[in-house]
Amino acid sequence: MQLRTRAMLAGVAVAALGLAGCSNDAAPSAPAAGGGGAGAPPAAAANCPLASAPDPGNSAPPTGVPMASGAPKLEAKPTYKVAFSQNASNNPWRLAETASMQDEATKLGYQLTVTDANNDQSKQIQDIKGLIAQKPDAMFVAPITEQLGNVVAEAAGAGIPVFLLDRNVDPAAAKPGEDFVTVIVSDFVQQGKRAAWAMAQATGGNATIIELEGTTGSSPAIDRKKGFDETITQCPGLQVVVSQSADFTRADGQEVTETLLQSHPDATAVYAHNDEMALGAIAAIRAAGKVPGQDIKVVSIDGSRDALTAVDAGDLYTSVESNPRFGPKAFETMKQYAEGQVPVKLVLEDRLFNKANAAQNIESAY
Ligand code: AHR
Repeated sequence: MQLRTRAMLAGVAVAALGLAGCSNDAAPSAPAAGGGGAGAPPAAAANCPLASAPDPGNSAPPTGVPMASGAPKLEAKPTYKVAFSQNASNNPWRLAETASMQDEATKLGYQLTVTDANNDQSKQIQDIKGLIAQKPDAMFVAPITEQLGNVVAEAAGAGIPVFLLDRNVDPAAAKPGEDFVTVIVSDFVQQGKRAAWAMAQATGGNATIIELEGTTGSSPAIDRKKGFDETITQCPGLQVVVSQSADFTRADGQEVTETLLQSHPDATAVYAHNDEMALGAIAAIRAAGKVPGQDIKVVSIDGSRDALTAVDAGDLYTSVESNPRFGPKAFETMKQYAEGQVPVKLVLEDRLFNKANAAQNIESAY
């Protein structure tokens, strides 16, 4: 576990929300502000403190998180039969997460069954019910939306300790520490704040923004929107003129951006909740005869290989990392739970990629 010092925003009220503190196999610190996009940095608007502030960094380490006390227990033993309900395999991020889980299970000699819900909520509910019937020792779930609480609670009711990965569920339907052991996530609100900061850096604090939202009802879509939208209010020149879901996919990102560029030809920036949608947006910007990185600045979240390549090329200004390599942290947490107790929420730390460090991270990206 590695804690990183949080960079403070000098004189700027970007408050750190919630929890942070555990790192998985991501490591190095964020680069200095700036760098990215083509040409000289834009002049910072006087009324946009974000444009001259440092990277807000990760949120503060968690305090006062209760331990999981009411969830089904897990016996400590040398090997386990484990299940993982993945919500989709339609982008590099999901594939990297699944591969990380499989690699770690193999390393530990555990038997892992993986299901793929194909981005379909009703299929994921059926997948989880099928996995419950197989009576695994423990189950990992990466829920499509926050509406998966009931079926998560059903698994707990069947005596299976559930560990949520990368997305959360509505606590009204599944109580943390009881209906599931813990949720291991990035701080999506903070990612949105860092994306807002990057947008201010890219544009000097003046931009007409198209926002591409992730899957409706998913915790990253909800929280990345919240963090970004709240933070840009510090800069009156940063205005989101339209915000629409493109379902976290490249194809939808391209199609939605094509349409929105027609209704908003004055747009000068795109904020995409993930890299795949940003890459689709970059294709749409080109198709509209504009130059990504110059006519329209693009900021996104994830840190995929294609995104880092786009950052290096100047098409994408910044990708805030959302590390998908959950395997080591997921299984370490499961073992800790078998041997004692774990907090009901674990928050990972993420890096930030821009022109200053993209090239050197392309090879190790997914
Ligand atoms: O839950 C994390 C998000 O889900 C990633 O940003 C996205 O690419 C994925 O589909």
